[in-house]
Amino acid sequence: MTTKKRVFSGIQPSGNIHLGNYLGAVKQWVEGQDEKENFICVVDLHSLTVPQDPVELRFQTRSLAAVLLASGIDPDKTTLFIQSHVTAHAEGCWLLNCVTPLGWLQRMTQFKDKSAKQESVGMGLLDYPVLQAADIMLYDAHEVPVGEDQKQHVELCRDIGQRFNHIYEEEFFIIPEPKIPQDGARLMGLDDPTVKMSKSLAYTRGHAVRLLDEPKEILRSFKKAVTDSGREIRFSDDPEKAGVNNLLGIYKAVTGKANDEVEADFANARGYGDLKVGVAEVVIEFLAPMQARYKALMDDPAELDRILAIGAEQAAAVSMPKLRQMKEIMGLVLPVSSD
Ligand code: TYM
Repeated sequence: MTTKKRVFSGIQPSGNIHLGNYLGAVKQWVEGQDEKENFICVVDLHSLTVPQDPVELRFQTRSLAAVLLASGIDPDKTTLFIQSHVTAHAEGCWLLNCVTPLGWLQRMTQFKDKSAKQESVGMGLLDYPVLQAADIMLYDAHEVPVGEDQKQHVELCRDIGQRFNHIYEEEFFIIPEPKIPQDGARLMGLDDPTVKMSKSLAYTRGHAVRLLDEPKEILRSFKKAVTDSGREIRFSDDPEKAGVNNLLGIYKAVTGKANDEVEADFANARGYGDLKVGVAEVVIEFLAPMQARYKALMDDPAELDRILAIGAEQAAAVSMPKLRQMKEIMGLVLPVSSD
């Protein structure tokens, strides 16, 4: 029996993975994989909650798995799998739906934001955080490493878990903790430092740094980054300086340097132009080896499929028995042949 803390986290394959996803979430997953028992999931069912092109979704799902491996997720240490490969997630979501009050879901910020942008809102969008709660709790995860924007969903997961435990069996579900990194928890758009860097806007040129962008595209995006009319290069909470603060935050998270070291690196800068190029350079250098590994993985689809098949098997070995226990305590008749 392992005594390692268990970690669960997920990422959607819709759109292009960007630096915010990496610094807010993936970096923590990679860094924690020696001391934690990691389950990392490409959440394709979550992506279906907004319209998707089927061919594109299939490509993005495999591509994202390859990016995660290229970023340092080691399949010998982490269980990496595709959500729809393990049926416990969708079934567990249904069971949790039946203990989740509608009002809790209608209050979710992400639901309100995303539904305001859709002409017709599917049920899946409202139900999104319940599926997320099933993802996490079917693995008895203690920790959920995520960026700042997912905090509300993890808190809802805790509420659903507590309600379930109260109704059916105290301590049945482990109540997980969100783990938000100190640096990089909320990267802002380069084109608009008042909005979060997001996958849905990542197709707009200059908004995000996508992990698979060519160096010249990355340099171009940073050079066009919105700043302010001043010259001072230092960390600050001033909303006017949000653009500069975002650039310094990216530099800090990528290099691992302290605030004063970061500011010292730009002490002789002639203006924001030098800052932008300096940040672009560290990001380009940091992404180059990952991009090379990604190409190699995409050139060997059989190996990628093999890794994902093993991941799905390992994930099912944990979540299917938990689902079965859930069904049992909820009063469902278990099929005799399913053991
Ligand atoms: P997703 O795919 O939107 O984002 C994946 C991770 O990236 C983080 N993130 C950011 N971090 C910093 N700055 C940003 N601008 C930024 N944008 C995104 C997110 O916080 C997230 O950690 N609902 C989840 C996926 C999910 C999940 C789960 C997560 C499904 N099931 C279970 C944890 C546990 C999502 O849409 O992430």
